Amino acid sequence: MNIGILTAGGDSPGLNAAIRGIGKAAIRSHGMSVIGFRDGFRGLMQNRHLRLDSDAMSGILIAGGTILGTSRDKPSRMNVGGVEMDMTGIMIETYEAHHLDAVVCLGGGGTQKNALHLAEAGMKVVTLPKTIDNDVAGTDITFGFATAMDIATEAIDRLHSTAHSHHRIIVVEVMGHNAGWLALGSGLAGGADVILIPELPFHIDAVAESILARQAAGSPFSIVTVSEGAMSVEHAEERTRLKEIKRTSDSEEDRDAAVLRLTELKAERADATHLLSRQLEERTRLESRVTILGHVQRGGIPSPLDRLLATRLGTATADFIADGRHGIMVASRGEEAVPVPLEEVAGHRRTVPLDHPWIKTARTLGVSLGD
Ligand code: F6P
Repeated sequence: MNIGILTAGGDSPGLNAAIRGIGKAAIRSHGMSVIGFRDGFRGLMQNRHLRLDSDAMSGILIAGGTILGTSRDKPSRMNVGGVEMDMTGIMIETYEAHHLDAVVCLGGGGTQKNALHLAEAGMKVVTLPKTIDNDVAGTDITFGFATAMDIATEAIDRLHSTAHSHHRIIVVEVMGHNAGWLALGSGLAGGADVILIPELPFHIDAVAESILARQAAGSPFSIVTVSEGAMSVEHAEERTRLKEIKRTSDSEEDRDAAVLRLTELKAERADATHLLSRQLEERTRLESRVTILGHVQRGGIPSPLDRLLATRLGTATADFIADGRHGIMVASRGEEAVPVPLEEVAGHRRTVPLDHPWIKTARTLGVSLGD
């Protein structure tokens, strides 16, 4: 059999471990021939590839990023010379030219959708769940998340000592897109006093009161861990209302106005963490500083847990392909690698359920969730 591998979406620790796991199992256990496409779906379109033999995969287990390169290109809306075009047909031509029996797409939510699109167009596709956001449906966990948790938790640990010394509020923004896994996990592991996640819109006064209560109890410093997707109750309500107008209004004028305001709201979110810090300073009269962890959370050596997860899922992927399985994501459920139909994954996001044990733990500890 011949298989191709590509990595798409934001890079994530563990991608190379997964490539190695797939490749080694494919070659050693099943005698397959393996190639990698460069820069996500763009490489599949442009037929830019390399042979993934044992030499090419040697030493990559601990390397961060992806040896294949990545991009956020979509097969159905590929930017070609400034024009968006559907390049699905060209990708199928590349697939057929290499006589591939499967293409393995390593990626997050967007990649699962793109992979389903290719599967519906006739390609045999298998995916793996990769993202630091941990928001892919159908799997217990995604690789990249554990490493990002380690990095964010270490940052919160370090911010604690400076917050404590200066009697300050430190607002630390972590990634996670529209899911609060990373903020909640690292906030709990790092002992944050306030954790704000997208799933629970916050009241700024409730956050300020919790900080003032800590001050009154003798702790004049606080760590606020905020997910990049978190928003105030007012912001969330306006957004929901505008989306409803955009979806249902009979008036074109109202729909256009809603779209315009939604764009403004999105831009306001880019500055939301600084706004939160300013609002907390005003309300508590404590000094506040902002730390935005950004892409540092995605970089560098994958943690042992991510290497293990990616290797487990990668090797299982080769076995599933050898068994003729396709149109699936190889998910992690407990210690098992489980095939999940792509239709059950694509278009679904796994956000933090409001009754999740991590939320209960936070409440039991007295951590403010801003609600
Ligand atoms: O999906 C992973 C992620 O790191 C998100 O947490 C974040 O919102 C986004 O990617 C950032 O994307 P980019 O690297 O394209 O700026």
